[in-house]
Amino acid sequence: MLKYRKGISDMPAYDVAERDWKLKLNANEAPTSLPPLVEERVLTRLSRVSFNRYPNHELQDLGEQIADQYKLRPEQIFLGNGSSEIIEKLFFAFGGSGHSIVYPEPSFSMYRIYVKAADAKGVPVGLEEDYSLDREKFVRAVRESKASLAVVCTPNNPTGNLIPLEDIEYIAQNIECAFLVDEAYLEFAGEKESAVPLLKKYPHLIVARTFSKAYGLAAARVGYMMADAAIVEMTEKAFMPYHLNVLSLVTADIVYQMRDEFLPRIYMLRDECRRVGDALKDMPGLTVYPSHTNFILLKYAKAVELNEYLTERGIGVRSYGSAPRLENCLRVSMGTREENDVWLKEVQRFIKEKG
Ligand SMILES: Cc1ncc(COP(=O)(O)O)c(C=O)c1O
Repeated sequence: MLKYRKGISDMPAYDVAERDWKLKLNANEAPTSLPPLVEERVLTRLSRVSFNRYPNHELQDLGEQIADQYKLRPEQIFLGNGSSEIIEKLFFAFGGSGHSIVYPEPSFSMYRIYVKAADAKGVPVGLEEDYSLDREKFVRAVRESKASLAVVCTPNNPTGNLIPLEDIEYIAQNIECAFLVDEAYLEFAGEKESAVPLLKKYPHLIVARTFSKAYGLAAARVGYMMADAAIVEMTEKAFMPYHLNVLSLVTADIVYQMRDEFLPRIYMLRDECRRVGDALKDMPGLTVYPSHTNFILLKYAKAVELNEYLTERGIGVRSYGSAPRLENCLRVSMGTREENDVWLKEVQRFIKEKG
């Protein structure tokens, strides 16, 4: 009998059913690839890569650009294979047996998986009825569990709502352990909602970002964290040497240099979220949650059947089935206007026929 470590055998798998969708709206990806001008620059840059060398200055170049943008020191930036790797390693660095990690529920489904991987104790804090976070309850859970790491996600996946910045600051003021703010979708809400300016005041604060969502670079797997240099230095030990490949690094570097080229798509997706939300609100029996992201969460008594109906038509959305606090919920990533009209029409048809 093979003896796996306990954390692995107990760990739930990341359970997204994939197939060749006609319309893929289940992973909060961007609906289109790189803007043509950016793609051209990326391909030119890739042709100059030294394939024989481990990536070094490419890592520094991108880190310095991000540091410049947020008026931080380069030692305060650390890049990873998606923010997934950053989050996983932070859980590893602050976890271990006897350590508790506090996170909201429902939120990003990987938190509870990384808790297991880190052999830590997970302390989920239930969101309120409207999916807002009760900051007092959260602080209490951190204190009572003597947590080593607290995590929040804003705007939250899969509920779409923002945690007000004053609540983030309140939590930072009232807890002493490391405090990770996962801002994977922040660009859709706008920089003024970001916790980054608080980094100067709270050295236990960490902000994680990704290139996968607003910059539509999910294929390259690049994310980063911003934190006090001491946290970066300790966490870096959990990563293997040269963990990021040069192809992803130079691609992300060009994308970051040309980030204004992505603004039209970010605005379009935000507008689509509003337009689709308004269209769905009028459909009988559907609850639509306000979203500050590129996806929308719906609640509907026949969500499971609706999901099957959409699947049969090649439309992939994320169904939560009977997941606690997300019963009968579907999360749909925004596509282009034309794509959204396709699935909206199917939802309308389903409700008319079976609702
Ligand atoms: C809230 C949240 N954080 C982090 C991630 C990880 O993204 P990536 O590893 O692509 O950067 C995701 C991906 O869906 C997410 O929804």
